[in-house]
Amino acid sequence: MNGKRHLQIAPSILTSDFTCLGGTLEMLNSSQCDYIHLDVMDGVFVPNISFGFPVIRNIAKKTAKPLDVHLMIVDPDRYIGALRDAAPEYVTVHYEACTHLHRSLQNIRANGMKAGVVLNPHTPVSSLEYIAEFCDMVVLMSVNPGFGGQSFIESTYRKVAETKELLLRIGSHALIEIDGGVNLTNARTLRDAGADVVVTGNAVFASEDPAATIELFKSL
Ligand code: DX5
Ligand code: ZN
Repeated sequence: MNGKRHLQIAPSILTSDFTCLGGTLEMLNSSQCDYIHLDVMDGVFVPNISFGFPVIRNIAKKTAKPLDVHLMIVDPDRYIGALRDAAPEYVTVHYEACTHLHRSLQNIRANGMKAGVVLNPHTPVSSLEYIAEFCDMVVLMSVNPGFGGQSFIESTYRKVAETKELLLRIGSHALIEIDGGVNLTNARTLRDAGADVVVTGNAVFASEDPAATIELFKSL
């Protein structure tokens, strides 16, 4: 047995072919992925629109994998109730989109889901100082949210290490997830810096054999 920590993998279906969603879910169900990452975009907080809550409810019926719902929307509190039936494991909201972030996190937890905060690339780790204790997950965006297939922003490595330090200091067990531009090369460095989960969109869905690519991520 070696002592290396295995990364958890959360494939994002954003860049998959939505006309084949059933097949994609079957592939993910029989793959080694740990979560399915669902990117909800409203065309206001981010310059793109993806899919909404009826789609998520239908996805939930077709998978036993835990769902990790990333809300890139303004005023997410309006929609937390709409997620209850899908019972995602994690619901994450943006620091930049929530005026009353503490209340939003409590709202997610009160609805029986785990709560997380997402930081955009420009948002400092120190923003977590008074909120991390209420988080089950911290997500660091390593691209500007809105689109799949963008390049990884290198300063994320430093941010992971700083986040790990902050979480340890306050005694938080929140997972650190990295979202955007993750590939087989940077994932290893992210893990070594302290990341627990990586979102993988393009790296999985643009590959010839997505299930085999997920296996490669798991074997890092
Ligand atoms: C970006 C999304 C990501 C993204 C991941 O706004 O939050 O989840 O689609 O896809 P890749 O891995 O292609 O950057
Ligand atoms: Zn995402």
